Amino acid sequence: MITYLEEAGQFQLDTPNASYVLTLADEGYLLHTYWGKRIAPQDLSDLLRLNDPPFVPSKNERERASFMDCAPFEYPCAGIGDYREAAFCLQNEHGARACDLRYVSHRIYNGKYNPRAIPHTWGNGCESLDIKMIDAPTGVEVTLHYTVFEGIDAIIRSATLENCGDRDVTLVRAFSASVDLDDDRFEMISLYGSWARERQAERLPLRHGKQRLDSGRGESSHQYSPFFALVRPETTEQQGEAYGFTLIWSGDFTLQAELTQFCQTRAQIGAQTDDFLWRLSTESEFDTPEAVLVYSAEGIGAMSRSFHKLFSDHLIRSDYRYIERPVLINNWEATYFDFNLEKLKTIADEAAKLGIELFVLDDGWFGRRDSDNCSLGDWTPDERKLPGGLKPLTDHITGKGMQFGLWFEPEMISPDSDLFRAHPDYAVGIEGRARTQSRAQYVLDYSRRDVRDAVWEQMKKILDSAPISYIKWDMNRQLTEEPYAGYSLEYMRGVYQMLERLVTEYPDILLESCSGGGARFDPGMLYYSPQIWASDDTDAKERLRIQHGASLFMPPAAIGSHVSVCPNHATGRVTPFETRANVAMFGTFGYELDVTQLSEDERAQIPEQIARWHSISRLVRDGCLWRLGNPFRPSGYAAQQNADYDAWIFVSADKSEAVFTYVQITAEANMKSRRILLAGLDPDADYAYTIRGTEDIKSGAYLMQCGVMLPNLWGDMQSVQTTLQKL
Ligand code: DGJ
Repeated sequence: MITYLEEAGQFQLDTPNASYVLTLADEGYLLHTYWGKRIAPQDLSDLLRLNDPPFVPSKNERERASFMDCAPFEYPCAGIGDYREAAFCLQNEHGARACDLRYVSHRIYNGKYNPRAIPHTWGNGCESLDIKMIDAPTGVEVTLHYTVFEGIDAIIRSATLENCGDRDVTLVRAFSASVDLDDDRFEMISLYGSWARERQAERLPLRHGKQRLDSGRGESSHQYSPFFALVRPETTEQQGEAYGFTLIWSGDFTLQAELTQFCQTRAQIGAQTDDFLWRLSTESEFDTPEAVLVYSAEGIGAMSRSFHKLFSDHLIRSDYRYIERPVLINNWEATYFDFNLEKLKTIADEAAKLGIELFVLDDGWFGRRDSDNCSLGDWTPDERKLPGGLKPLTDHITGKGMQFGLWFEPEMISPDSDLFRAHPDYAVGIEGRARTQSRAQYVLDYSRRDVRDAVWEQMKKILDSAPISYIKWDMNRQLTEEPYAGYSLEYMRGVYQMLERLVTEYPDILLESCSGGGARFDPGMLYYSPQIWASDDTDAKERLRIQHGASLFMPPAAIGSHVSVCPNHATGRVTPFETRANVAMFGTFGYELDVTQLSEDERAQIPEQIARWHSISRLVRDGCLWRLGNPFRPSGYAAQQNADYDAWIFVSADKSEAVFTYVQITAEANMKSRRILLAGLDPDADYAYTIRGTEDIKSGAYLMQCGVMLPNLWGDMQSVQTTLQKL
């Protein structure tokens, strides 16, 4: 998968359909040479334009600055004439920022380098290339790591920095990846949002200058996701080139694309913002998180499927990536903080009767938490609501044959809590300044081991006190004050250490991470939790957009999605119960409502929905997703968008079965049936399926080229779901 052409000084990484090529040029500069459709290893140095003026420095030292400002550097350095965005920058004791990396050695090997103490890809069947470079004046060594996994069109990149010099330096920038693409014909797809409106896809042409999205909030955030794609103007879901980038990281990040004076595009991603500073003392090392780079010549859909496969096979560690997950019911939208043992038991009894398999007790079970004003940090059951603690409730629930799950927000502390009264210093803050409250809470200083231990002891006591099969790990505010430079990185590492402890000591627990809805919906979290709550907006219509955006880079089986009541608590919209279930089946599928308050008709649908989910969940988990619609407003996400319908199909790897879902978002009077072309099927096989009670058999070719006819349905948000079985 990785070759080195000695004569050309060229490294080539091949994935099934793509090649990524680097060249070792004059004076030890490492230049990006090619990334695109797979090509046989050969000398590609022409692409570097080293014979164009101003030539390489050794041929024209006089114009070194021009070379520095236009060569396609693989890991561009600041301060020596490259005025484009740097991937790497050091600062000396006088504040001077400069560095100049030159090649030292390389190594091609089976296996891979794993960045220490942070999430990373893992597994057999991979090959790696390490290229060591040095900044001679400081003695700082940088090793660029590249890994490719068999059968997956993705390249994993990271860098390790080691101060081998005799003086401390300050690291100002250390991105995970930078790629100089040779032209400017790109549009950028990125994801913006807000609380309850996460991951709205936007697609806009690149223009000269820089386009940047970032998070300095200490989490990957509701506002922007650590993902972007550069696509050709003509690229669609199934055709055209797409270059996707993401980061295995859950904290601050920057992603950007710069269109240069020579109409080339520099694309970068890293786990920091411009405020980042890090003391790299002598003999110390620093690992960047891993960036994942995907090239697809077959549209945005194939790009997403490569991310999905990599993350499912080589990032998620939980056994739940392969095994069936229980259908849960969560009491948050059912009761909020207003519950007691009796009320919970009543909901659980009804849920058990309907076949729901896991009861999740959300916020409000501890301290004296009748609202979100208090008690974070006091992880003892509230005896007023739960006399005798959790045990009577868990006994009741397990007695009904259901599993039990519990909500925690372990990174937080309420000013009104015993923990804060005893240890005010546990909350993050800057000496001499007031802390900023958000949702009436502060953030615990997770960079401190004693603080983590204090929370861990409490959590452990609870986890050992009752049969807890599932945990929802929430985080409901962002970092504001940071006590010192580089703090948010230390904070994130602390969070990862706690998560590691949890999954190591309680490996059987199904962990769902969450952050005020979907503010930490990122690949970093997948390493610990196979599913992540995607948004507090459970409205089926809005969820179409949120889930579509999420699936651009994250596996659908990781998208926490529930059926809730109508009028929806976030939008007030009323949608059919059946459609809410069909939309939730794009992700983890569960319920978040008071089953005792549903109509008889709705309740009656639940056992069938659960049975259907169990018959298709394997397809959602292990199959390939083909998005067939694009539910965005006409203004947002150009090309193919519509606000009228959405559709998608999950197809098994062997193409023997599939599940197709169609949602008519808006009804129109006197409209013809809609023809949807399916995708991903075996063209030569026949498939049996049923649409609205009518059985049919058609070949894969027919279904993909002629399509299926969906009747004009009566009402907004009507939907159809059918399995397709190969005959
Ligand atoms: C935010 C989460 O997204 C919700 O599902 C719920 O758990 C609340 N926090 C509880 O405070």
